[in-house]
Amino acid sequence: MPEKHKDIIILAIESSCDDTSAAVFCNNKKRSNVISGQHVHRAFGGVVPELASRAHLQHIVPVVDQALQKAGITAKEVDAVAFTRGPGLLGSLLVGVSFAKAFALARHIPLIEVNHMKAHILAHFIEEEGADPAPEFPFLCLTVSGGHTQIVQVNSYEEMEVLGQTIDDAAGEAFDKIAKILGLPYPGGPLIDKHAATGNPDAFSFSEPKVQGYDFSFSGLKTGVLYFVQKEMQKNPNFISDRLHDICASVQNRIVTILIKKLRKAAFDTGINRVVIAGGVSANSGLRKALKAVGDEAGWQVRIPKFEYCTDNAAMIAVTGYYKYLEADFSDQGVVPDARLKMQL
Ligand code: KG4
Ligand code: ZN
Repeated sequence: MPEKHKDIIILAIESSCDDTSAAVFCNNKKRSNVISGQHVHRAFGGVVPELASRAHLQHIVPVVDQALQKAGITAKEVDAVAFTRGPGLLGSLLVGVSFAKAFALARHIPLIEVNHMKAHILAHFIEEEGADPAPEFPFLCLTVSGGHTQIVQVNSYEEMEVLGQTIDDAAGEAFDKIAKILGLPYPGGPLIDKHAATGNPDAFSFSEPKVQGYDFSFSGLKTGVLYFVQKEMQKNPNFISDRLHDICASVQNRIVTILIKKLRKAAFDTGINRVVIAGGVSANSGLRKALKAVGDEAGWQVRIPKFEYCTDNAAMIAVTGYYKYLEADFSDQGVVPDARLKMQL
């Protein structure tokens, strides 16, 4: 009879930006995933790093406690601690890294550092009842978040090659900054998505950036929307409220077409037809719909993450930590956060 492997219990911590999250996994299966957002940033229209660090400090212990309780696991049963080492805000990362190091030291268990961007992608490997099977290697991932926009060729759990990325703003940043122009609160991405649902995506045409290869640019779109809205408001001061749904639908349509066009090019050039999306903006309904449609037309195998795993969460850190555990890829107590941690070391 083959030897039965022991189940591995991983506690994972994510604190790279403005969500404090802890998850408990048994192998690659979720036992709990607790996420605590931070409302202190709303008044400022964006994340204030110093306030984020302080809120992480307040949230980290109750969030971990809740994750363990929900999982029905005691601290003594945890086999390893996985944590986000970067990229992200240094002060925010410091809270999660320090907590993880202290927990591992106290319990004499391995410490596993995780790259946040790789974890967004590996969220596709969380095993759940009724979910589509994980993608086979190699596959392409469009990772779109508040801080990053990348097309990545994923060759294995570890080996990932960035084929293209944004040369200025990230897609989520474009959503948020345009939302701010429209007077919507932070984070505006989900609100643009909501208002777009009943708007006409062809009502207004915003220009498409001309960027080489698989790279992206979104800062021109933001400026284009600003000038357009200012001009229209000279004619009608209520232009934004009168046409909010159409503006949102048209902006979303443009962002989605920019993303999908480059993804198509990457799939065509590499000959890889397994395509997934990841990151906060992969929650966008327009992007999810467009990817399905293009996938059907182009014959791609498409995988779209559950909403829970799109925006920042510790479940993705836990599953990445699990695969690193199997390779005994551990860090020592000297590990420090890296705000600009690269995909390839
Ligand atoms: O991955 P994430 O939680 O944090 C980063 O690592 O950046 O992504 C957050 C970003 C924000 O810019 C937010 O506005 C955007 O994801 N976002 C969305 C939607 N849900 C979240 N953007 C457009 N439509 C959505 N439904
Ligand atoms: Zn993220």
